[in-house]
Amino acid sequence: MITAFRRRLLGDGHTYSLIGSPQDVEDQLWRRKHYILLIMLVALAGLAAVFVSGRRSYGIETCDTVAHGFQCGTTISQYWGQYSPYFSVPPEISPDIPEGCTVTFAQILSRHGARDPTASKTEAYNATIQKIQANVRKFSGKYAFLADYEYTLGADQLTTFGQQEMVNSGIKFYERYRDQTRDIVPFMRSSGEDRVVESALNFTQGFTDAKAADSQAKHGSKAYPTVDVIIPEADYGINNTLNHDLCTAFENGTDSSIADDVQETWTNIFAKPIRKRLNSHLPGAHLTLQETIYVMDLCPFNTVASPTGELSPFCNLFTEEEWHQYNYYETLDKWYGYSYGNPLGPTQGVGFANELIARMTDKPVHDETSTNHTLDDDPKTFPLGRQLYADFSHDNDMTAIFAALGLYNGTGQFPKTEVVEARDANGYSAAWTVPFAARAYFEKMTCSGHKGELVRVLINDRVLPLTQCGGDGLGRCTLAKFIESLGFAKAGGDWDKCFL
Ligand SMILES: *[C@@H]1O[C@H](CO)[C@@H](O)[C@H](O)[C@H]1NC(C)=O
Ligand SMILES: *[C@@H]1O[C@H](CO)[C@@H](O)[C@H](O)[C@H]1NC(C)=O
Ligand SMILES: *[C@@H]1O[C@H](CO)[C@@H](O)[C@H](O)[C@H]1NC(C)=O
Ligand SMILES: *[C@@H]1O[C@H](CO)[C@@H](O)[C@H](O)[C@H]1NC(C)=O
Ligand SMILES: *[C@@H]1O[C@H](CO)[C@@H](O)[C@H](O)[C@H]1NC(C)=O
Ligand SMILES: *[C@@H]1O[C@H](CO)[C@@H](O)[C@H](O)[C@H]1NC(C)=O
Repeated sequence: MITAFRRRLLGDGHTYSLIGSPQDVEDQLWRRKHYILLIMLVALAGLAAVFVSGRRSYGIETCDTVAHGFQCGTTISQYWGQYSPYFSVPPEISPDIPEGCTVTFAQILSRHGARDPTASKTEAYNATIQKIQANVRKFSGKYAFLADYEYTLGADQLTTFGQQEMVNSGIKFYERYRDQTRDIVPFMRSSGEDRVVESALNFTQGFTDAKAADSQAKHGSKAYPTVDVIIPEADYGINNTLNHDLCTAFENGTDSSIADDVQETWTNIFAKPIRKRLNSHLPGAHLTLQETIYVMDLCPFNTVASPTGELSPFCNLFTEEEWHQYNYYETLDKWYGYSYGNPLGPTQGVGFANELIARMTDKPVHDETSTNHTLDDDPKTFPLGRQLYADFSHDNDMTAIFAALGLYNGTGQFPKTEVVEARDANGYSAAWTVPFAARAYFEKMTCSGHKGELVRVLINDRVLPLTQCGGDGLGRCTLAKFIESLGFAKAGGDWDKCFL
């Protein structure tokens, strides 16, 4: 860190030679004094950087931390739905490995890091900005920045901030499972889209950096992870348990529009007063409801486009309550799109659920949904008996997988007309489950005083209570009870309904 910091202060390629060109001794002495002063300054700055509580981004002050994720403007940044940068969800049960327990298995399932808007959205956002700037004569107060705001967001790819989130995730994983990671590496798979593969690579970088710095780790040719399998994404014809696009009745039928309808009802309630205010401060803009939401989207997207995660001025245009409403709008999208609110939501996550059962029980995969048997029957591409696994995917896929695993089941439906906060809904919201760089940890452990293995599930550091399998005060179920609770996946998860 200090070296990087110094490079920053000095500028790359600047060398401060003590001997050499200026023959004049006094000149040399003068230089030496300044050099010592400079070293002291650099050391001080380095120390200061260390004191900025584990915020490692090469000495630059950033909003992202390894341990707890994004920590700026948390009263709003934890309410940006799936566009929230990863943060540790406030715990009810301590996320630490329980005392007297030893982890025997850990699977991380991760979303890619923060990205630019998707291609169609980036066009729509740009058009909204062009429309505002073409029609509004005067920008004042909180809106003044819009006069010279230039739309420069790209499309689909990870941002620098998003890459760093994944590096941080790799460091965090290394540290959490140090008993294993010192000796072994996770078996890694990634879904095929660029930003997902890159996220997996950045995760390996963080893991590798943490291991390289650990003097007690085993180093050597197989000490560092690589992405072992990349499964291509295609709408049809490619079996991929990290991509949901295979359920034809969902993709081609009406179930995929259920979430849109629910969101539309809620938009008509919450976004109208916001639109009215925006249009009164931006005379001539005549924003639609959809464009009003686009202007809200520009807060998270501009924030994660900043390498340090500096909050965008778009964020100030809205109140805390409005961010809660926005978060709920995104929660409705996930719940009614890929979770229990959709008849084909849980079904789309069954393939991965069955793979997890195979890994946890050390038995071949039993699944006739989205698994590719060629891959899963081959120990090179689907080894069993490993202690560490890491898979990389997307928010919708993870939402469906959580549902297929029975997580958050029994939460009840989310009404279309008023906000339900995550803490009142078994911890379910888009921001608490699938923010950028979201991660689920599925753990097995042996604990003194307990026979056999126990299972815990953490979603973004929140330990799920696992009441469906008799979770104890620390959220632990026996392995047998946990597997028993996965009846939906084991029975095929209604996959036939995808082809009615
Ligand atoms: C935004 O739209 C304007 C006008 O169509 C175009 O000139 C510009 O290249 C676009 N910017 C981006 C980043 O797409
Ligand atoms: C993330 O990975 C990509 C692809 O390997 C690489 O180009 C980039 O430098 C990495 N980012 C960071 C922050 O290390
Ligand atoms: C299964 O995986 C194999 C090996 O990667 C690949 O050749 C094949 O196309 C895949 N089949 C399906 C249906 O996804
Ligand atoms: C589903 O829609 C896609 C794209 O429109 C089409 O190519 C495909 O044939 C359809 N599948 C079925 C089973 O109707
Ligand atoms: C892909 O999935 C379908 C549906 O479950 C299955 O019939 C087919 O055998 C699978 N293909 C491979 C290569 O596993
Ligand atoms: C959710 O709970 C209901 C009622 O107990 C049960 O029928 C269903 O199978 C559960 N779904 C999953 C995916 O576990």
